[in-house]
Order: sequence, then C-alpha cells, then structure tokens
Amino acid sequence: MKTRAVGTLLALLLAAACRKAGPPGVPPERVAEYLHAVIEADRATYAEQVVHRLQDVEKVLKASERFKEEKTLPLPSQMLRMGAKRAQETAPFRYALISEWAINKANLPRTDFEREGLAAVAKAPEKPYSRYDTTGGQRYFMALYADRAVSDACIECHNHHPESPRHDFQRGEVMGGVVIALPVE
Ligand code: HEC
Repeated sequence: MKTRAVGTLLALLLAAACRKAGPPGVPPERVAEYLHAVIEADRATYAEQVVHRLQDVEKVLKASERFKEEKTLPLPSQMLRMGAKRAQETAPFRYALISEWAINKANLPRTDFEREGLAAVAKAPEKPYSRYDTTGGQRYFMALYADRAVSDACIECHNHHPESPRHDFQRGEVMGGVVIALPVE
C-alpha cells in the first residue's frame, strides 16, 4: 500500500517536472485576442490610410463592391474576407465579419453563437463574447468582437447603401462583429 502511494507521488512529481520543462502555453482566449488585434489593426489601417485617403481626401480612386470590373479599390469587408480565405489555406482557424444589419446577406449570423454574440457585443462592446463549442467532432474556442463605425466613411456608405436594412448608424456605434473560431484539442 505504502509502496503504491510513493509510486503515485513519484509519478505526479515527474509529470509536474515535465510540464515545467516544456514550453509555456498560451491560452486560446489570449491567442484570439492577439489574432483580433492584428485583424482589427489591418482593417482600420486599410479603411483609413487606403480607402478614406484615396477616396475622400485625395479623391483619386473610389472603393466599390465590383472592384475588378470597375477598377476601384475593394471594400474593407472584402479585404477582410480575402485575407481570411488566404489565411485559412495555411492555418486551420477561421474568422469572418458578420452583422444582423448586413448589406451582403452572406454576412448574416448563422449560428446561435453568432446571434447571441452580436446581441452581447451590441450591449457591451468592450468585452468579447466567447465560449467553447463542438462542431463536426472538433472542439473550438469561439470569440466574437464588436466591429464599430471607426470613421465617417463607414456610416456614410452603409447609411446610403440601397441594400442596407439600417440608415441611422452613428459614429462609434457597433455595426457588426468579427467572429474567430480556433480549433482546440
Ligand atoms: C464604400 C462603402 C463602404 C465603406 C466605406 C464601408 N463599408 Fe462596410 N460594407 C459595405 C458593403 C457594400 C458591404 C457588403 C459587401 C460584402 O461584404 O460583400 C459591407 C460589409 C460590412 C460588414 C459585414 C455585414 C454587411 O453589411 O454585409 C460590416 C460589419 C461592415 N461592413 C462594417 C463597416 C465598418 C465598421 C466600416 C468602416 C471601417 C465600413 N463597413 C466601411 C460598404 C462599405
């Protein structure tokens, strides 16, 4: 009995030592936060330094949905989607821009998590809405962050777009959300 207890203790100590010796882990909450910071920074930089500058300040090039045919700049939401598609070719996580007031109906929320998350960040934009979820046998850490009208260009365009279900967005208001799905073990 005593030998067994000593054996168990030794095994526990060994496991603890191995854990200590390994590289430090980063919790999924933190990984999502880092990824979101990059997505958000790229999105705001593109909206301000490329779209807003060339379209509204220099007035040399517009942004439009049919950017290839019209030889214009892609919209900020299209840039995000193209980047997300490309990232998915090399890394197994997903991200997307969605909204309950979507111009493009493919950007409407599709799951309970997305609907609940959009409602939650509309009320408390500072805090991401997150939880663990299992789909198709794979466990994911899901996080949804508020997407706000950071510049006048956002509200000008959405409020005047014929496909937009809302025409009263204000500067700083939540217009949708960025959803991130990270596969976890
Ligand atoms: C020149 C017009 C224009 C500007 C500027 C613009 N958007 Fe959009 N936005 C659109 C269009 C059109 C779509 C739908 C296109 C798509 O995703 O295929 C869209 C999509 C979105 C979506 C996804 C839901 C939807 O409506 O389909 C969100 C959220 C969003 N925009 C927020 C913003 C924010 C925040 C800004 C400012 C940083 C911004 N938009 C700037 C036109 C614009």
